[in-house]
Amino acid sequence: MEKLVIEGGRPLSGTIRIHGAKNAALPILAASMMAEGTHRIENVPDLLDIHVMLDILRSLGCKAELRDETVVLDTLPAHSSHIPEELMKQMRSSIFLMGPLLTRFGEVQVYQPGGCAIGERKIDLHLKGLQALGAEIEEAGNTIICRATLLRGTDIVLDFPSVGATENIMMAAAMARGTTTIFNAAREPEIQDLQHFLNAMGARIIGAGTDTITIEGVDRLVPCTYSIIPDRIVAGTMMVAAAITKGNITLENVCPAHLTSVTHVLRRAGVQVHIDGDIMNVSCPGRPRAVERIVTSPYPSFPTDLQSQVMVLLSLADGLSVIKETIFEGRFKHVDELTRMGADIWVDMNSAFVRGVPRLYGATVEATDLRAGAALVIAGLAAAGTTIVEQIHHIDRGYDRIERMFSRLGARIERFTPAPVPNNN
Ligand code: UD1
Repeated sequence: MEKLVIEGGRPLSGTIRIHGAKNAALPILAASMMAEGTHRIENVPDLLDIHVMLDILRSLGCKAELRDETVVLDTLPAHSSHIPEELMKQMRSSIFLMGPLLTRFGEVQVYQPGGCAIGERKIDLHLKGLQALGAEIEEAGNTIICRATLLRGTDIVLDFPSVGATENIMMAAAMARGTTTIFNAAREPEIQDLQHFLNAMGARIIGAGTDTITIEGVDRLVPCTYSIIPDRIVAGTMMVAAAITKGNITLENVCPAHLTSVTHVLRRAGVQVHIDGDIMNVSCPGRPRAVERIVTSPYPSFPTDLQSQVMVLLSLADGLSVIKETIFEGRFKHVDELTRMGADIWVDMNSAFVRGVPRLYGATVEATDLRAGAALVIAGLAAAGTTIVEQIHHIDRGYDRIERMFSRLGARIERFTPAPVPNNN
């Protein structure tokens, strides 16, 4: 198993370009199945999850290649609407293909993505939305088969503004007959990016970024060239890393408007954030201040995907902070690991109470999921001594060689890959 070894205590400094957003690229790659022919998708990050999505698309018959952050994808040869269970298990986001495959083939077979490290993560809202559009759903054990000869536009009210369900319904409705309106839709920037991509293929969608999205179905979509938005979660992770190492870094290719709630929290903690167009400068000359209360909620509120990273900042702040997690019930697994590095944190139900300590200390810790893993890496950058982060395949799902990003900013961080075991047969 690969691991990262970090010698902490060096302030980060320099300039880094933020790569494209995983959470925008995944649904966009899925949506491209709805237009037959060759798409060119730019600013696609080179991540484990993206490779799994490309493998799924190839397994359906597409030709796909990722080179220099550009995916060239020919969807014309696709012939299957059955996502292999093995690939489905590797990535929950494979359910994004339900809407597009249903539209293209009138049928799709997937498997329950099951629970994951951060909570139960149901797909009932995806299924209810597709049913409202006229799909028939058959569930047998772990298998879900969804069929529709014709999808018809309708009004859909989501019980919760689920990001994935909003996206799946938008995609299925793009070629349904008539108009679909999604009420209580999620408002994340990645949903706006999906709207822009679908419209670039010829769809007629308005409202993404608000809680009401209207989709007028069209008969046909055509392939297009499109560039993915910057990754706001990677940018937020780098901002926190700069602050906790008392560094001074400049981020290029960011969309500061997507980070408003994060910038607000960091400024309350005493972090200096300067914005100039799509460039952000982040520094923190002194010890951060505690922040009385942070609540994770759907966009535009504070993102659950940056909760663990900000917890590291607060574990080094002066005073007591409280973080309430309202999106995923199992998203405090990093607390035990941070405690092993000297943090003073206790959890009660869905709230974490963080009493800042002057210093964290290096330890061997385990990444339990993607964002928790990133939090442990940045904790290691600030800690005294050596930190070893294990199970880093989780981190590779969402950060394109995280050690390279931080080394460029002056950190001492290296990836160790175990030598292959000799085969004596
Ligand atoms: C997306 C992001 C993920 C982020 C999350 C919340 C992608 C690829 N992933 O995940 O990084 O952490 O948004 O911002 O974009 N829920 C249901 N039923 C459903 C769907 C969701 O109960 O059918 C619940 C989930 O269990 C969870 C909450 O709704 O508690 C939010 O989930 P959702 O917004 O759907 O997140 P994802 O789209 O899975």
